[in-house]
Amino acid sequence: MTFDNFTYKGVKFSQEIHSEKQLSYLENEFKVFDDDVYCVTFPKSGTHWMGEILNLIKNKGDPTECNTVLSMQRSPWFECITGLPDVENLARPRIISSHLPCHVFAKSVFESKAKVLYTIRNPKDVFVSRFHFNKMLKIYKDERGFQDSLNDFLQGNIMFGSWFDHVKGWLQMTKHENFFYITYEELQQDLRGSVVRICKFLGKELNDEEIDSVVKHSTFDTMKENKMCNGDVTQAHILDKSKGTLMRKGISGDWKNHLTVAQSEYFDKVYQEKMKDVNVKFSWEE
Ligand code: A3P
Repeated sequence: MTFDNFTYKGVKFSQEIHSEKQLSYLENEFKVFDDDVYCVTFPKSGTHWMGEILNLIKNKGDPTECNTVLSMQRSPWFECITGLPDVENLARPRIISSHLPCHVFAKSVFESKAKVLYTIRNPKDVFVSRFHFNKMLKIYKDERGFQDSLNDFLQGNIMFGSWFDHVKGWLQMTKHENFFYITYEELQQDLRGSVVRICKFLGKELNDEEIDSVVKHSTFDTMKENKMCNGDVTQAHILDKSKGTLMRKGISGDWKNHLTVAQSEYFDKVYQEKMKDVNVKFSWEE
């Protein structure tokens, strides 16, 4: 997919939604508050899902805000030109979304008490989800075929750069007590248990009923019906809704329906090479 882009610190960004000036401002000058919560992901890893969970936890399971305020307004992307003013106007405690790689993130975040949650998803599913979503995104000027898109993904020749570098960069933060990571697959296998872990990390004490409500309102089926987070109300100049949907399938392993055996083996080869120094074992590696 081609798009008007620029490179900032080795990573590709969109000229239409990002700016170098803003990235530099975020990195060096953005004011982080101790009660900020950052929902960080490589795109298509479950950003909206985690954003919903965080909002519901903040509201002790009360879905009113999730049902009445657009997700991109209650947890805006601070690297987006249109998202930053919303972030700076958010009532505290703020929930801020980001796809930024660690090396260009707001430097002061790790000198503060702000919490960072990083959600990681099997990159094969990220690739497939992204392949479908990119058809909807109007910033892309053309449609690239599946094999070319796969090569772009594996080479990191895409917006926000390499999945491998993104994950490896953020995993270096595991030594910080205010950093927490979880996988999309863990959320799927045990949503309630995951919510309990997230509450513990955030220092939030919710009773059983409140936790049940967080779970109920963050399932795929509920979110797919919620116009405030399912992409239905996103401005028409961003998404072409005739080309797909944000809440597409919400499953793990959909890559098996898309990648040939040869493509999957090639993916595994690149994965093993790029991830060889990573000590974490993810469920999809077993
Ligand atoms: P699929 O395209 O595989 O269906 P992001 O929010 O980072 O853009 O990620 C979008 C992906 O997360 C989509 O994946 C979407 O369906 C999935 N997703 C969103 N909410 C979910 C939920 N509650 N449960 C499971 N998957 C969810």
